Amino acid sequence: IAPVITVDGPSGAGKGTLCQALANEFGWQLLDSGAIYRVLALAALHHHVDIQSEDALVPLAANLDVRFVPEENHLKVILEGEDVTNQIRTETVGNTASQAATFPRVREALLRRQRAFRGMPGLIADGRDMGTVVFPDAPVKIFLDASAEERAHRRMKQLQEKGFDVNFDRLLTEIQERDYRDRNRAVAPLVAAKDALILDSTSMSIEEVIEKAQTYAKK
Ligand code: CDP
Repeated sequence: IAPVITVDGPSGAGKGTLCQALANEFGWQLLDSGAIYRVLALAALHHHVDIQSEDALVPLAANLDVRFVPEENHLKVILEGEDVTNQIRTETVGNTASQAATFPRVREALLRRQRAFRGMPGLIADGRDMGTVVFPDAPVKIFLDASAEERAHRRMKQLQEKGFDVNFDRLLTEIQERDYRDRNRAVAPLVAAKDALILDSTSMSIEEVIEKAQTYAKK
């Protein structure tokens, strides 16, 4: 059975960058589980599916036509044949995703799809519940955290680089709302697995985070 390194944590902690670096370093597959929830949200918005209705979202989740194509330094995301790599990164989509993610049967419908990413030589799994629910038997688990302010700063820079116009206070509020929802939902709440290494990256550079995580993963 292929090894898995899980990286969980709140929005904007730097999981994406860390996971891409680990995947490059080890030559392993990458699962961006957040992108699956984001694609589901985008599909719901496109098809005018009621985001408050679990019954409406479950079949959409079960039949989601999404593909991930590894590119040099990122994953290309294809929804129903359309490249949605950038479209899924807006805060609207992120917020909609976190609402859809509160429904137990929606999460259930996406479980098998996520576990199917496991394969040789190994998998780096990025998300909220990778170490607690999706891959509880993963031999290496990391929980990456940072203060909400620092995460809002990082997210602002990231969105600006993509050409989005953003306001810091709004981003911070949205991050705090998303944190609250992710941490307090009934199923698979955002929490560190008991056997996870907790890395607080608030005053660490991304290079330091990568270095620490690599050393830990190779232990
Ligand atoms: O990029 P960011 O960290 O802000 O979010 P993301 O990882 O793309 O995930 C978007 C939303 O999907 C999160 O706010 C979670 O509510 C949800 N999600 C989840 O519930 N479980 C996962 N394994 C991954 C994401």
